[in-house]
Amino acid sequence: MNDNLTISVRDLKKYFGEVKAVNGISFDVKKGEVFGLLGPNGAGKTTTIKLLLGLLEPLEGNISIFGLNPEREEVQMKEKVGYVSEEPFIFKSLTPKDLFNFVASIRKLDAEETTERVQRYLESLGAVEYYGQLISTLSHGNKQKMQIIASILHEPELLILDEPIAGLDAKSVRVVKEILDMHIEKGGSVLFSTHIMEIAEDLCDRIAIINRGKLVGLGTIDELRQQADKLGASLEEVFLRLTEQDSSVEEIVKKLRASYKKKIKETG
Ligand SMILES: Nc1ncnc2c1ncn2[C@@H]1O[C@H](COP(=O)(O)OP(=O)(O)OP(=O)(O)O)[C@@H](O)[C@H]1O
Ligand SMILES: [Mg+2]
Repeated sequence: MNDNLTISVRDLKKYFGEVKAVNGISFDVKKGEVFGLLGPNGAGKTTTIKLLLGLLEPLEGNISIFGLNPEREEVQMKEKVGYVSEEPFIFKSLTPKDLFNFVASIRKLDAEETTERVQRYLESLGAVEYYGQLISTLSHGNKQKMQIIASILHEPELLILDEPIAGLDAKSVRVVKEILDMHIEKGGSVLFSTHIMEIAEDLCDRIAIINRGKLVGLGTIDELRQQADKLGASLEEVFLRLTEQDSSVEEIVKKLRASYKKKIKETG
């Protein structure tokens, strides 16, 4: 594998019964870049990410992360990767403090230095007061902040984030962007998913647009913008077209209203 590549994916497939969640996807993520998987709900983003992490077994295709196979070389791979999942947290019965101590012990990190770093991140994300509270009692956004902190404590070379800023307030989004920038400055790479073009445009060096398990667009923001210009459309319009989201929302809303009115009439 090319030393300059962090992730290499070829012809990846994963079906769930009849549903072709990932249906022949190929892309590379280079060292030092922020790569976005962009697509609407159900496009196959989370499935792709779970395949990359070895959490799901592919039907077909090849995945290489730092030249490692995520299924066969899971432990070595995970030393180099930090992961933020779409669903907030599995460790609900712990406090963030317990969680960070646990991460520090399994990752063999220096306890004092870790506590110092944790406090810095908590302060910058406005979450110091939740350090000793049960994770199960935290709001969605605050759970997400804890997950982000836990994922970066071991200073992984690659961050894989599934919709990382979906639940965060504006100030925290700004801080997370800064954390990602610092990670890139240190030579790291990032792969993250989003269904919002604007977020991808703002954060990513390159984007893979996926729809119904297939790659429908790939390139730098500038490349995609140039392609859009040629079509006389904005990047957002091209994204909506590529992902079949451009059918009139008005039409859908009208239908919904009509069926609702009908139901009200029927039930009196
Ligand atoms: N465990 C599963 N069993 C059956 N179908 C699944 C499973 N996981 C995902 N799918 C299906 O695979 C398709 C892709 O789902 P996936 O979660 O990868 O989409 P996504 O792009 O992450 O969407 P979202 O933006 O809503 O998070 C969907 O049709 C989904 O219903
Ligand atoms: Mg998802």
